[in-house]
Amino acid sequence: MTITTERDTYAAALASSAMLDALIDERAAQDPTRFRMLTGDRPTGPLHIGHYLASLRNRVRLQEKGVESFVVIADYQVITDRDSVGEIGDNVRGLVLDYLAAGLDPARTTIFTHSAVPALNQLMLPFLSLVTDAELRRNPTVKDELALSEGRPLSGLLLTYPVHQAADILFCQARVVPVGRDQLPHLELTRTIARRFNSRYAAGHSVFAEPEALLGDVPLLMGLDGTKMSKSKGNVINLRDSADQTAARIRSAKTDPERRITYEPERRPEVANLLTIAALFRGKSPAELAEAIGDGGARRLKEVVTEAVNEGLAGHRARRAELSRDPGYLTTVLHEGNARANEVADRTLATVRAVMGMAY
Ligand code: TRP
Repeated sequence: MTITTERDTYAAALASSAMLDALIDERAAQDPTRFRMLTGDRPTGPLHIGHYLASLRNRVRLQEKGVESFVVIADYQVITDRDSVGEIGDNVRGLVLDYLAAGLDPARTTIFTHSAVPALNQLMLPFLSLVTDAELRRNPTVKDELALSEGRPLSGLLLTYPVHQAADILFCQARVVPVGRDQLPHLELTRTIARRFNSRYAAGHSVFAEPEALLGDVPLLMGLDGTKMSKSKGNVINLRDSADQTAARIRSAKTDPERRITYEPERRPEVANLLTIAALFRGKSPAELAEAIGDGGARRLKEVVTEAVNEGLAGHRARRAELSRDPGYLTTVLHEGNARANEVADRTLATVRAVMGMAY
């Protein structure tokens, strides 16, 4: 008997992601809908450099290749694991600012909020009929989120997380979903929902195509204290932080007492993490940077990282500041994105109701 572990699944997903990426390179410009992309964020707080390096830059890259793109600001998802929506309005505007500053172009990328698209949310009902409660309970993303939510009982919204996420993806017929490793089980269930919908309700016709995960090639970054990046732990550098705040954060980062800087991820994880951050901003390898720092010690390492981050983000931060002076423009971007998402969702829902015999 073969046992498929999360690691095997991840390795397989990585290999097919590489293939998908090559296909996008070759064909996206000629056949944009074949590679229609959807991804998104939960508006729970400001975006940090981890988001920038692993996801924002990649979205812009795909947009520039001619991929038709959708970005959902998943506002309803905020309350999967907490009791209040918090500063939701500010958080949503902050996301839009970072998207635009990073180079997402609202003429080519539809940026929208989940709650503003009723037809998308209505897909939840037929989709819920396609999954069992056991499937939802054993979904690793649901289990992990529950474990992280500090003893809270499992809400219906958290339990059905993969189903509403499937609606986010399938409403616009997305074929490519750039996600992190933690979201792979969700995507698997999305594929299952698409398949079951087609066979149960559409007599085998392909109403929904199965989307594919596009995993990034950026390694998982840690926070500046060597633990998981987390807004609440204050161990992250936010995109909106000033150059001085960034310098102060990096000065207080954890390192180790060895003077000579080397890139040894297993033995020196904190130093390796800092080198990786600088390397990603500089487009160099971490080992190369370590070599150049040599005996400069933690102090020189931190200077190098600070410069790399601040120079790498200077343009982004300047554009962000400029855009934030025009709140009316942000509102327009969202309203237009929402209008476009609604058109697409209305069409999909109409098809769904028609194939289910519900077009009265
Ligand atoms: N759940 C994702 C996150 O926390 C955000 C998200 C919402 C998403 N809908 C999506 C990602 C659809 C990919 C596809 O990070």
